[in-house]
Amino acid sequence: MSGLFFSVEGIDGAGKSSHIEPLAQTLRDRGLDVVITREPGGTPLAEKLRAMILNDAMDPLTEALLAFAARRDHVVNVIRPALERGQAVICDRFTDSTVAYQGFGRGFERWQEVLAHLERWVQLDSDGHTVLQPDLTLWYDLSPAVAAKRLQSARAPDRFESQMETFFDQVRAGYASRMHLYPDRIRRVNADQLPQDVFVEVMAVVNERLDALTQASVTRPCFTE
Ligand code: TYD
Repeated sequence: MSGLFFSVEGIDGAGKSSHIEPLAQTLRDRGLDVVITREPGGTPLAEKLRAMILNDAMDPLTEALLAFAARRDHVVNVIRPALERGQAVICDRFTDSTVAYQGFGRGFERWQEVLAHLERWVQLDSDGHTVLQPDLTLWYDLSPAVAAKRLQSARAPDRFESQMETFFDQVRAGYASRMHLYPDRIRRVNADQLPQDVFVEVMAVVNERLDALTQASVTRPCFTE
């Protein structure tokens, strides 16, 4: 695969989603052909599963299974084909969300083992060896107290947005744990700043990674010109 895979993560209210289009534009300016997508969702089937995950009551393992079912459809039909075409994929959330929300947040029994297996099955390439992971994950980190204030003025909360701050403390701990596991892939961005200042930090990380990747290989990433 010759494309580039970016994921954007953070607790609800961290402000990541509003940065996705500006990020995409910056990548286009560098000659990349960009696909913007999201999880849960990104395909007609996965969007149906998203509506269930966000609105219907269910136990935490069911939640995780539906998130991975949606991801499988999304990886097979959207993400992998785009990467094979050499495109840059920006995904609003990916597996780090499942570990943070369903693993750390909900904390069902034996979640670590279960989620590790599901991650491998769902993201395993057709060669049977490589587990698909983002090339770069931007973690918008913010304290749950500040995020809660931001969410107060937002639209009616879904099942996750209406959770207590303690839930988001655990989700945040989940992201921190993933960053320790994947220090090269996951980069923390201080989201407790004005949006334009957060974006300056994001661009510094993205440009550093793009420069490293272009130096590492003349064939990767796949620029349109
Ligand atoms: P989000 O991506 O923030 O979209 P919106 O801006 O429309 O709220 O919301 C998706 C929610 O789903 C978010 O609360 C996190 C949750 N989620 C999980 O619990 N597990 C997952 O695997 C994913 C991808 C998301």
